[in-house]
Amino acid sequence: MPGLLDEIEPLKQAAVAELKAAPDIAALEQTKGAWLGANGKFTALMKRLGTLSKEEKPAAGKAVNAAKMELEAALASRREELELKAAFPKEPTDFTLPGRRRVLGKLHPLTQVTEDIVRSFRKIGFVVADGPEIEDEYHCFDALNTPADHPARDTQDTFYLESGGHRPPLQLATSAGAASPSPGGEGRGEGERRLLRTHTSSVQIRVMEKQQPPIRIIVPGRVYRRDNADATHNPTFQQVEGLYVDKGVTAADLKGTVEFVFKELMGEDVKIRFRPHYFSYTEPSFEIDFTSALVKKMGKDWLEIAGCGMVHPKVFENVGYDPEVWTGWAFGFGIERIAMIRYGISDIRLFYENDVRFLRQF
Ligand code: DAH
Repeated sequence: MPGLLDEIEPLKQAAVAELKAAPDIAALEQTKGAWLGANGKFTALMKRLGTLSKEEKPAAGKAVNAAKMELEAALASRREELELKAAFPKEPTDFTLPGRRRVLGKLHPLTQVTEDIVRSFRKIGFVVADGPEIEDEYHCFDALNTPADHPARDTQDTFYLESGGHRPPLQLATSAGAASPSPGGEGRGEGERRLLRTHTSSVQIRVMEKQQPPIRIIVPGRVYRRDNADATHNPTFQQVEGLYVDKGVTAADLKGTVEFVFKELMGEDVKIRFRPHYFSYTEPSFEIDFTSALVKKMGKDWLEIAGCGMVHPKVFENVGYDPEVWTGWAFGFGIERIAMIRYGISDIRLFYENDVRFLRQF
């Protein structure tokens, strides 16, 4: 069929021109269909190859194939151009403007302090233990040798739960390790009034009930008291409890340990002082005072920071340890207090308001 060979070049040129002129990807796809689709103009030309004579076919076939490759190359290069164009901002860009930084979240200052405390204790072989925030009176008070007339047990000071004597399944599960009944014959808190724990000391009992010495634990956790919120009080705050039980443990070990951790936390110039005090679960008992350049700057000589002492023999008896064999010490301090001194914060409520202007500083 005369003419086919001559038709190829103009057809190709028209197709390439149209592809190059496509203003966007959608238009380009449409143009592609119009030429190379099943009913496309170039496809029609290729179909006509079959009608050529044996002599004409090779030359025409070669020319059609070459043209088709050019079309496909033109299509690919226009597609790349258009895709690049689509990725570009529509508005002119001022490259001298400062970039937009993504805001990264951070750990809360109380979490940071807790993690630092835990890290220091881990270095000297302590492990983290945990216990329930909903406690029974036995674990919070009785097992810790805290008498019935102790002010902490007053409803004015402690949040009791209304469902009193009924223990939920969760409580049963956590005390399942309690092997023998307590000395009074009651089932270790079962059927007791429940309350929000007033201190983390209850976890000392829970751990000792479940395992034999030696014990080296720290217990960071939330505690609850019926305090009105002011600059130094909040109805919920956080403590870290520590307990060390082994043979031949002394108060010197206690002092050395506390000094090591506080130096790590607050700097080398830290000094620690023990003052005689009373806690029903330790004998002797102390309060720990602490001083440093920072404390001096706050206009104070010493700051009270923790309670501690040698574990009372009664407490050991309550968990089934022989007080003639085992010795130990325990301490408890407030995490907020430490964070306030460390960062120079004057109002405890700032920790709970979650104002990012405050939180961003740590
Ligand atoms: N539980 C005490 C409190 O809430 C702190 C404390 C004092 C914990 C002496 C102890 C300790 O383990 O031995 O203030």
